[in-house]
Amino acid sequence: MDMKALVLSGGKGTRLRPFTHSLAKQLVPVANKPVLVHCLETIRDIGVREVGIIVGDNADEIEKVIGGNSAIAADMHITYIKQDQPLGLAHCVLIAEEFLADDDFVMYLGDNVLGDGIGEAARRFRQTRPDAHLLAAKVSDPRQYGVVEVDHDGIVRALVEKPEKPRSDLAVMGVYFFTPAIHRAVRSIRPSGRGELEITDAIQHLVSSGAKVTAEAYPGYWKDTGSIDDLIECNRVLLDRCAGDVRGQVDERSELRGPVIVEEGATVSGSDLVGPLVIGAGSVVTDSRVGPYTAVERDCVITGSAVENSILLEGARVLGVAGVRDSVVGRWAHVRSAGGQERNRVLIGDHASVEVAA
Ligand code: DAU
Repeated sequence: MDMKALVLSGGKGTRLRPFTHSLAKQLVPVANKPVLVHCLETIRDIGVREVGIIVGDNADEIEKVIGGNSAIAADMHITYIKQDQPLGLAHCVLIAEEFLADDDFVMYLGDNVLGDGIGEAARRFRQTRPDAHLLAAKVSDPRQYGVVEVDHDGIVRALVEKPEKPRSDLAVMGVYFFTPAIHRAVRSIRPSGRGELEITDAIQHLVSSGAKVTAEAYPGYWKDTGSIDDLIECNRVLLDRCAGDVRGQVDERSELRGPVIVEEGATVSGSDLVGPLVIGAGSVVTDSRVGPYTAVERDCVITGSAVENSILLEGARVLGVAGVRDSVVGRWAHVRSAGGQERNRVLIGDHASVEVAA
């Protein structure tokens, strides 16, 4: 039996408010696909079919979106594992023990995007089969991550979760390869200062007990989609990797430049589309300029507007507004011009943020 995968999609998404009031953080779309779908595609690309997904309060929503994705459903066999409270990443391994059984597995945090896949790391793990194999990347503020100290031969010497005084600038990324040796380690640790069973502590336990733990530097694009700005950046990078593909209706008054995706069922008229960008199924773009670096999900309406470097979630509308930039518009939210009136009227939900040209 080859590897399994354990994808962590429980927890809370407070840093992505207001969008996560009504949407699991792993379902926020980048380049018109939920982050969790990007994770599953990356796992599928290393040939893993047997996947357990840890879900919390968001279980129904996640099952609906992933279950309704026919490509994923056809290629992968998914088991949902309910976590009643977000008690930590190592707790997720504990409750998945029955699913994982005696198999090696890749653990993947459902809010991490690795733009260049995990093929090389998977190959190395399968070939050398250490007890744990980690991916690491240099970061400017290691205090927000698990921090790892690695020898020049790739052997891990020590790990600490979110240290105040980091001993290296190498962050542990959200993808880990494990043999069943991790099960004993997650049973041996105690909750951390923030009350969670930390996977970092479990891996440190492996190191301390003489197990072989290795790490490699990830050469590609990596993002833990923790903040709104991270999402916009990630959207940009992933759109850059897409090829143009026009299936929807584009009239002859419209002009397309660069890699433009217009999904089937979308309608574009009298507009300039500057790729990279994607217009989702059922969306209607009229007399507008869209892009570059813009993802418009399904059933949106853009009329008489200019939208750049932004994400519009399902059903969003931008009507008569010229300078929408670096923005995220939530599901069925509307941004519209005040029609020449000298006032800004805002009806915005909890934890929302609006910048106006005052
Ligand atoms: O992104 C890399 C970092 O991820 C590592 O450097 C850290 O060592 C690691 O602890 C983790 O840190 P975060 O603070 O970013 O983890 P977060 O709480 O955001 O959880 C990561 C994912 O796991 C997220 O999709 C939610 C899910 N999760 C989290 C917890 C605590 C669960 O499913 N259950 C949980 O109990």
